Amino acid sequence: MSAGERFYITTPIYYVNDSPHIGHAYTTLACDAFARFARLDGKQVWFLTGTDEHGQKVEKAAQAAGKDPKAFTDEVSQRFRHLADAMGFSHDDFIRTTEERHYRAVQHLWNVLVEKNEIYLGKYAGWYSVRDEAFFDESEITDGKAPTGAPVEWVEEPSYFFRLSAWQDRLLAFYDANPDFILPPARRNEVVSFVKSNLRDLSVSRTTFKWGVPVPNDPDHVMYVWLDALTNYITALGYPDDTEAWRTFWPADVHVVGKDILRFHAIYWPAFLMAADIPPPRRVFAHGWWTNEGQKISKSVGNVIDPFQLIETFGLDQTRYFLLREVPFGADGDFSRAAMARRMNADLANDYGNLSLRVLSFIQKNAGAAVPARGDLQDADHALLDAAAGLVARVRSEMELQAPHKALEAIFAVIADANRWIDTQAPWTLRKTDSTRMNTVLWVLVETIRRIAILTQPFMPASSARVLDQLAVPADHRQIADVTDPAAELVPGTPLPKPEGVFPKWLEPA
Ligand code: MSP
Repeated sequence: MSAGERFYITTPIYYVNDSPHIGHAYTTLACDAFARFARLDGKQVWFLTGTDEHGQKVEKAAQAAGKDPKAFTDEVSQRFRHLADAMGFSHDDFIRTTEERHYRAVQHLWNVLVEKNEIYLGKYAGWYSVRDEAFFDESEITDGKAPTGAPVEWVEEPSYFFRLSAWQDRLLAFYDANPDFILPPARRNEVVSFVKSNLRDLSVSRTTFKWGVPVPNDPDHVMYVWLDALTNYITALGYPDDTEAWRTFWPADVHVVGKDILRFHAIYWPAFLMAADIPPPRRVFAHGWWTNEGQKISKSVGNVIDPFQLIETFGLDQTRYFLLREVPFGADGDFSRAAMARRMNADLANDYGNLSLRVLSFIQKNAGAAVPARGDLQDADHALLDAAAGLVARVRSEMELQAPHKALEAIFAVIADANRWIDTQAPWTLRKTDSTRMNTVLWVLVETIRRIAILTQPFMPASSARVLDQLAVPADHRQIADVTDPAAELVPGTPLPKPEGVFPKWLEPA
């Protein structure tokens, strides 16, 4: 199998200290759209998500809940599975770091790093933020806080260290040789200057609490939660065994992460892997953060956005569309009800929904409730059909660059073209003057909608399926290749079911 035909994509694994919020839903949603697109585009896909269950932050949350950490993580991890179900995520595996397969993988990796003399025993004295599960340098601390704003505590304990400082030049050479390893480019520059500024050896074990993977042969230590957590990406493929999944899917095509955890993925992770003679992933893409009605989201402010509630209020595909379309992937963005309502009404109800409902209702009434007969095509017909076919290459290249907002923008530009096209072609006038031409115009429209609906599947799976059902497109003709395959075009005379609206208008409750 050639490299182009397989696609391995991962989400961060989420801390089980709390219930899922919009940040968790967002990262996995984007990955879901990329994974769905790649599958529809004929690739062999592995899409991984899961939960990060060790470390002090989770241990403290369990204590606060008065629960044993294992029982606590079992319970909270389950909520992340529910979110995945509610959001319609299509992951192939859901990993938990408390699983036996993961202990085995991390301990093996640890032993390899020890054998290669990449890990040594020393003593850590410095700042640690439990909220970030990160060590900070004295120079990074202002007013007793980490750059993230999280409180820090002074830690002094025996610790194993990973020789990160020795990897500085090799990391820089790696970034140089792989200019798309970190995207977007602005984030890449941040990482490069951080690495240039001087890397210190990284503390990779702790002794002052117990909730972690024990260090082999030194049970006083548990592994640093980030070494443990990052390894999930290879555990899931069967590491350290030479499995078929491992051979097929490693290196990962892309780890999608939030901007706050880029450093761990773009510096520590490739260094750990290279040190163990494992090829690094092909890309780490960092997305931005959501605010809520212009305000930073925080538990203390009480403005956390609950993804379950979003879906319940606005609908699943509406929520999916909004999150993927509203904000350029990679940039920060704001959630507001007004923006959500605009997207639902302007884009979904008026443009996409209305295009299909208007055309299909017209066909029910005036063209025998079947795919209309296609006469000779004129230039204007080819122009619209070609615009829809041209979306394939465009959407593919945007999705390969993790730009779902641009893919959607391109698709919706063709939807707008199609709506304008109806007005210029005026089938309602042709009905009285030239029924052959009317049928051709209607055929061009339903065929255009077919092409569009195939392409909207990764973003809005259920709604796109309903549109395709209304066009009587068989389930096995909904691949990306079918968009441009003449054999998959709508066949005149095929009966069409009674159409119904797919995208309701949003009316703000009084
Ligand atoms: N457990 C680590 C990841 C380990 S990966 C080997 C972790 N977990 S987390 O639960 O805190 O994950 C948070 C994810 O949600 C991050 O990607 C983070 O960027 C994202 N978000 C948290 N708040 C967010 C917003 N307000 N907006 C968008 N994403 C945000 O970090």
